[in-house]
Amino acid sequence: MARIAVIPGDGIGVEVMAEAVRVLRRTRELAGLDLELRTWDLGAERTLREGVTITEAEFETLEGDYEAILLGALGDPRIADDRHARDILLGLRFRLDLFVNFRPCRLLDPSLSPLRNPDRWSGGMEIFRENTEGIYVNLGGRFKAGTRDEVAIHEDLSTWKGVERIVRAAFSHARDRRRPRVTLVDKANAMPASGALWRRVFQEVGADFPEVEREAVFVDAMAMDLVRRPQRYGVLVTSNLFGDILSDLAAVLTGGIGLAPSANLHPGRHALFEPVHGSAPDIAGSGTANPMAAILCVGLLLDHLGHVREARRVEEAVSLAIAEGVTTPDLEGTSSTEEVGGWIADHLANVA
Ligand code: IPM
Ligand code: MG
Repeated sequence: MARIAVIPGDGIGVEVMAEAVRVLRRTRELAGLDLELRTWDLGAERTLREGVTITEAEFETLEGDYEAILLGALGDPRIADDRHARDILLGLRFRLDLFVNFRPCRLLDPSLSPLRNPDRWSGGMEIFRENTEGIYVNLGGRFKAGTRDEVAIHEDLSTWKGVERIVRAAFSHARDRRRPRVTLVDKANAMPASGALWRRVFQEVGADFPEVEREAVFVDAMAMDLVRRPQRYGVLVTSNLFGDILSDLAAVLTGGIGLAPSANLHPGRHALFEPVHGSAPDIAGSGTANPMAAILCVGLLLDHLGHVREARRVEEAVSLAIAEGVTTPDLEGTSSTEEVGGWIADHLANVA
């Protein structure tokens, strides 16, 4: 039996996670899967109520007692600087050492893309974002804060071990999925120290995968090229910050952030699945949030647990909903969050 912790979180996270759980329950019923879901009350409400974001004991339980975590979104205007979101989301990434942030970009329907020739980009791509280092380790500080002499230092950390494991994950994926090439995205021209480390590791690890080509592209050029000719790319590997930025860009090319799922992984050890979007307090409660990214996270979760057919079924049902126009307003539809989730759950039995 696999135990799944469900953390709906804040804002639209709660709404989209309700639909994701509905789809997961329906899949469990259809395929007779042995899955146990347990909801966790972590997020703004709990933080405001108890003054605690997440405890060490909770990290331990989530790490030890669960196969995987499904997370909605975190962020609430009542908590200045979203401290709880950092403690919980970044806390789980660091504490559970989820070093791969896997962000697949699939164009489920060409009509959704702002690209001029979306048909050329049917293959999609996968971003391997380093998830435990870089600028996110929050090293540095402020000096003479609040004065005209204020100095802020924010350091960008890369370790050989940290780079090696994400680069290896990207190459293994390319080999297993028969992607011809892995592209390293960096800024080695302006950041030569980390650039040299990443490029050295990229060459060394890449040599273990002779069947996979390798190339390096600067991040500014990549931002341009992803819009110009995304079909050129299959697997991207990059640092924490560049991966954060490029995954939003890539998401909008596939129809918007409402469709982008992601997996935070420590292969063989633990996994956390979350939509790329945030808690969107401005539309929370309006019933207009797109639940598809969260539902596609259920697909990634099923795939991760080895239920490959069920994962395909979830993705197919989402594609079908798009083709039938059962979508929320971000995709120009008129359906509510609940209607979209309900429709997808109801049609799981009708697809592949
Ligand atoms: C993401 C988000 C997070 C990140 C935020 C909420 C800290 O933007 O998962 O892409 O920067 O990693
Ligand atoms: Mg982001």
